[in-house]
Amino acid sequence: MSHGRRVKLVDNALSVAQVGSAVDAVRLAGSPGLVEETVPAAVQHGSGASRAEVPMLPAAEAGEPALVRVRRCVRAARDVPAAAGVGRLPPGDAWPTRFRRPLNRLRGDDVTTPFMDAYGPWAVIAGGSDGVGSAFAHKIAARGLDVVLVARRVPVLEASAAEIREKYGVRVRTVALDLSVPDAAADLAKATSDLEIGLFVFNAGSDDAGVPFLHKNVETHASLIRRNCSAVMETAHHFGAPMTARGHGGLILVTSGAAWAGGATLSVYGATKAFDLLLAESLWAEWHEAGVHVLGLVLGRTDTPSLRRTLKGKGEASPGELADPNDVAEAALEHLADGPVWIYGSADPTGASPLGMLSRRDAVLLMSRSWSAKSG
Ligand SMILES: NC(=O)c1ccc[n+]([C@@H]2O[C@H](COP(=O)([O-])OP(=O)(O)OC[C@H]3O[C@@H](n4cnc5c(N)ncnc54)[C@H](OP(=O)(O)O)[C@@H]3O)[C@@H](O)[C@H]2O)c1
Repeated sequence: MSHGRRVKLVDNALSVAQVGSAVDAVRLAGSPGLVEETVPAAVQHGSGASRAEVPMLPAAEAGEPALVRVRRCVRAARDVPAAAGVGRLPPGDAWPTRFRRPLNRLRGDDVTTPFMDAYGPWAVIAGGSDGVGSAFAHKIAARGLDVVLVARRVPVLEASAAEIREKYGVRVRTVALDLSVPDAAADLAKATSDLEIGLFVFNAGSDDAGVPFLHKNVETHASLIRRNCSAVMETAHHFGAPMTARGHGGLILVTSGAAWAGGATLSVYGATKAFDLLLAESLWAEWHEAGVHVLGLVLGRTDTPSLRRTLKGKGEASPGELADPNDVAEAALEHLADGPVWIYGSADPTGASPLGMLSRRDAVLLMSRSWSAKSG
């Protein structure tokens, strides 16, 4: 393999050898383009299996980064039936060693980080179609992982998926699913059974908090518990098992400052978020030595469509100072290995509860006051 060499995509076609060379050329030379030199076809390197030339995807679009285009080429090399009667190209592990490494690197984001090796090849984002979850999906796809997005509203879900495919050239699978139904975890497991999931983010979880406990019926509370506790536990169990067996992977459970203490009108929401926080901490304790990174991500007010809907419903005009979902997701991914907890926006993000110095009673009273002041 010639490092730093530029390669030409001959006649709009790409051989297996060229894929590998192109990857190395881009990765090692930081080349912004894939031009100039023809790389001998794989067959000349003695590999019958890699003889096939596959059609290129459509020409690069204006402004499309070279790496994104290369990713699309690799997808074509995997997914398009090969020419010259050699059948479909073999999966990565069946490739001759000399081609396997660059391809495996390319499936991730080796150009910039080893993120793919630790958390690839697929990520699932439960609640990944808007707000914080959408920001996670973008940030993860930008690191080269393929993503599964889970949410209920199909138009929002599909629009988000299309944008990510277009922008990053990764594969995106959508799963339209209500995570508060009893079989949600089983349905999600089924919908992803053919994928290797290296990163799982459970984000869906907000609530129109600010309503007294008795003003909601029992089924509404139970539904919140199913989504924020049962589904979180069951999906963490499902995706965590193969991660620990492989010795790498990542799990992010998005929780809230409402987990620090009880408070009036926070009741079931705060309790579910405390569950998520303690579950994340416990799984971190059990899995970190096995190489699986677990993070309980504690958020304060964050600018999401969901929060804005809630505020509007309460007639609260000015949302005040809100965290940016993109900053939140970026920080969580950067600090995924710094668990068990990341308190976004805190001066001490891996530290203790900000209410930890107070008595439980004072913490509850403070929480109630501050929540009612925020919620109007
Ligand atoms: N925003 C804040 O100020 C704030 C503050 C503290 C903590 N948090 C935490 O941050 C996380 C994200 O909050 P968010 O404000 O972005 O709103 P969110 O409503 O929790 O999350 C939005 C995403 O979750 C999906 N979703 C919601 N309920 C779902 C269900 N039952 N089944 C499947 N998907 C569902 C939404 O799509 P569909 O609606 O189409 O299903 C959307 O993709 C939550 O865990 C929340 O507790 C947020």
